[in-house]
Amino acid sequence: MGYDSAGGGLIDTRTGMIDRTIFSDQAIFDREMDLVFGKSWLFVGHESQIPNNGDYFLSQAGREPVVVTRDAGGDVSVLLNICTHRGMPVCRYDKGNAKRFTCPYHGWTFSNTGELSGVPLNSEGYGGKLDRSKWGMIKARVARYYGSIWATFDEAAPSFEDFLGDMAWWLREFMMGPDGEDDGLEVIDGILKNEIPSNWKFGAENAAGDLYHDVSHKSVQRVGLALTGLRTRHTWDADKAKFRMLNITFPAGGHAVRGNLYDVAGRDYQSQWGANPEVDAYFRDAHFARQKRIGERERLLNRGGVVFPNFIYNAANRTSVTSYVPRAPGRTEIWKWIFVPKNAPQVVKDVMRHYLLRYTGPAGMVEQDDFENWGSAQIGAESHLARRLPMNYQLRLGGHAQWAWPEPWIGAGALVDEGVSEHAQRIFYDRWTEMMTGQPQAFRREAAE
Ligand code: FES
Ligand code: FE
Repeated sequence: MGYDSAGGGLIDTRTGMIDRTIFSDQAIFDREMDLVFGKSWLFVGHESQIPNNGDYFLSQAGREPVVVTRDAGGDVSVLLNICTHRGMPVCRYDKGNAKRFTCPYHGWTFSNTGELSGVPLNSEGYGGKLDRSKWGMIKARVARYYGSIWATFDEAAPSFEDFLGDMAWWLREFMMGPDGEDDGLEVIDGILKNEIPSNWKFGAENAAGDLYHDVSHKSVQRVGLALTGLRTRHTWDADKAKFRMLNITFPAGGHAVRGNLYDVAGRDYQSQWGANPEVDAYFRDAHFARQKRIGERERLLNRGGVVFPNFIYNAANRTSVTSYVPRAPGRTEIWKWIFVPKNAPQVVKDVMRHYLLRYTGPAGMVEQDDFENWGSAQIGAESHLARRLPMNYQLRLGGHAQWAWPEPWIGAGALVDEGVSEHAQRIFYDRWTEMMTGQPQAFRREAAE
């Protein structure tokens, strides 16, 4: 395939072939920072991290460092954490409470809404001519969505709701938590951070819908350890719980969701927490409350997905959010927020926390397999000989089409297919190419034809 640092000619989702250089080339990476990350809404954190006025925490909007603050009036600001004098990060603590931040280099001081409020030697040194209103911290546009906080530094970007499109229903379902409250989740203090020798897209495309990689996680399945830390005493009945695995995709935005669709409405509660009656009771109540709340759509289980480009959520038992922070073509930081339902009994929060830590903590048993996969795939992306062949994304190419059941699709999302495919990845890369080149790609062209 031809080389084109603008991203054109590297990806052909009609043939399912992707040039390996999109994972390894510095010029492509630089362009991504401007045209993909620079023009998207990016997740930066959750309101439960700043419950009180004056609270703040450090985060990343893609590769850009930010400080997220709650001011005296309760409003949330996202500020580029870079001093406008000479570039030093203004705030140096992971989190805290402060009305203002003083840069440790020369002492310029900024309010927690970003205004430059103090300059040492202001009168003698600058003759009183420094226009402080022009030298405040760079501020992002902010969207607050059911407790989650998002930011973009692009004034021309669409509204957050337009950026989400139909994906909004799924994100809201997740952010409300099992109790169905407007801001039903809270973050467990402390964000898990890993660095892997991999391009950020390997993780993002995996979460979009790689149901093909089960073999990677066979070892933990063979060991048979219950990730809950409880002894397994399932009352799961596979016959009763007939469902189809779906890939739900949003070609306009590049987002994707993995879901189950159950055959029957008003389905029974299928316990996976039978060993602990309190936990079991909580999830049973939540299950039936959800049935009442959302009607027929309760047949849909929201398993997780991707808000393009780098926001990943895992729903159901492993309630968490991951942000892939791109550092270099072959280097990515993985930031993970672990959530629990805000109003759940402590025993439920404890069980969910243990589950998550076993799933993905420092000694996690599942997601660590994936980190190994993506770090190793980078070797193939950087090999000059392997570049003779593109990466292969042909699984079920052409066989996905639209929703094909006799009944109408009850969920939100434009294209749906069943089972194991690379459909979601192809849509992810169509959106990526569109942002990199400004040209509509295969699925959008097909929709227009
Ligand atoms: Fe911040 Fe100089 S770099 S005051
Ligand atoms: Fe995996």
